[in-house]
Amino acid sequence: MAIPALPSALANAALDAASMRPQPGDLLVFMIGENQGETIAPSQVEVGARPILAYPMDPVTKTLRDGSRFNIIAVGRLDPSEIEDDTKPLSADGVVAYSAVCTHNGCIITENNDTHHEFVCNCHGSTFDVGNKGKIVVGPATRRLAILPLKLADGNVTVAADFDGRLGPPRE
Ligand code: FES
Repeated sequence: MAIPALPSALANAALDAASMRPQPGDLLVFMIGENQGETIAPSQVEVGARPILAYPMDPVTKTLRDGSRFNIIAVGRLDPSEIEDDTKPLSADGVVAYSAVCTHNGCIITENNDTHHEFVCNCHGSTFDVGNKGKIVVGPATRRLAILPLKLADGNVTVAADFDGRLGPPRE
């Protein structure tokens, strides 16, 4: 006979699910703003606008993976002509997603610039080309942003695979 899970075990499982890195099939959900908690559709991501901050969400259990700041994602949308060939397969209808944790000192990236394909960290100005796998355009960061591969599923922006690199600043 199966033994029912203890409430604390259930709570721990929920905590684990919330802290897991984005999983293939997860939806992306607005982290803040008037659409907070809603899933993100490409039509809600303006081409060339500031990054939208998002969390991944398990589509079945609806668990928001907000248990780690390394799960904060910066979502942008580019004109297809501004997306390099090796980045295109990782995007969905022009939408790209990156770790929002700056690789310099860990600030959350919230800005872009008027090139429309570069995200900028407000803390010390590190600039990343989000049409080119998050490569550094301007330091002081020394490592690119990790990209989160995307696909479209039922019209929603959906995680296709793990982040493709290390997250956050280098560890001592
Ligand atoms: S923490 Fe982003 S540039 Fe320093």
